[in-house]
Amino acid sequence: MRKKTVRDIEVRGKRVLVRVDFNVPLTPSGEVADDRRIREALPTIQYLLAHEAKVILCSHLGRPKGIEARFRLDPVARRLQELLGRPVHKLDEVVGPQVEAVVHAMRPGEVVLLENLRFHPGEEANDEEFAKMLAGLAEVYVNDAFAAAHRAHASTAGVARYIPAVAGFLMEKEMDYLSRALQDPPRPFVAVLGGAKVSDKIGVIRNLLGRCDALLVGGGMAYTFLRAKGLEVGRSLCEEDKVDLARQFMEDAEARGVSFLVPVDVVVAPEASPEATCRVVPADAIPPDWMGLDIGPQTVEQFSKEIRTAGLVFWNGPMGVFEIEPFAEGTRRIAQAMAESRGITIVGGGDTAAAVERFGLSDRMSHISTGGGASLEFMEGRELPGIVALQDVSS
Ligand code: 3PG
Repeated sequence: MRKKTVRDIEVRGKRVLVRVDFNVPLTPSGEVADDRRIREALPTIQYLLAHEAKVILCSHLGRPKGIEARFRLDPVARRLQELLGRPVHKLDEVVGPQVEAVVHAMRPGEVVLLENLRFHPGEEANDEEFAKMLAGLAEVYVNDAFAAAHRAHASTAGVARYIPAVAGFLMEKEMDYLSRALQDPPRPFVAVLGGAKVSDKIGVIRNLLGRCDALLVGGGMAYTFLRAKGLEVGRSLCEEDKVDLARQFMEDAEARGVSFLVPVDVVVAPEASPEATCRVVPADAIPPDWMGLDIGPQTVEQFSKEIRTAGLVFWNGPMGVFEIEPFAEGTRRIAQAMAESRGITIVGGGDTAAAVERFGLSDRMSHISTGGGASLEFMEGRELPGIVALQDVSS
């Protein structure tokens, strides 16, 4: 179901509450370490300002237990102010009489940022009274926080019960790209999954097996699949209780005619350290005391061929321990293949987005999701509460 966006609603002269995801990493001295989520929210904010709205921004930052000074949004406000090139009035409270006084005195074109939503216990509890108080600050609600859309919190779901609720441009872009993968994708549709654990990806594998043409598995989770093929994996990560499920996935893929590729060679070392001696071995010859920490060059070739010729590629999860240089090559080469692909390339957020950024290839992807957990849940085919709460185009 298509959702209404800021284009579909009158915002001129109105107080507009915008839920953004400014949950950004901070440096040890408390400054914004990566402002991508702030930059991605700018188109919606700028559109609202250009249409003379009064913009009230709200976000969470981290997972504070009550009020914690290190999670105040002041550094975010400073960075936003620089990027916007106009003042951002940061408040020290989330709701209450002082906040109400400030927002009621706002003029069109002004920007206010509320304090960290999670300082209030009502946020994560999706408390009705708190949602009403948030809604009471504004006349229109815009959700641009795709990365928090899998949370049923007061600012992502509850508030939409009280004032008209529409999507911002980032939310719209995320929904467009990710649903393109799930609904009639250009073929072949190739899914590349990595990361440490099979258990984190069960829902995605289940959903994508019925939709994709090829599923390529790397990263720590690949060793559980190698075990399911009867191979010894030494001291590699392996979820013994998921070996049967891994086997079922591979059988299911075969029955559906989906190519299911697991590594044919791997980079092994006695430990995951930059100084460790490492070597490339066939996947069926992992020495007992060694562990697999990256995919090998033949696997890179096979995976890259699928990726380069795909109509659409969705990639979530690094191929190895890319943070440590000797085990970064597999992930780097897969990112390069994505960059060279003729198809639409979508990168799930989190670690995979960080890897692509680190290799300087972000600009070469069609879309890099701002959401880690949210993009995975979306690709599992689940309805996200923050999206469900928005008005449908037909209503
Ligand atoms: C994220 O970084 O994935 C989102 O901001 C959600 O944060 P949370 O996992 O703390 O709810």
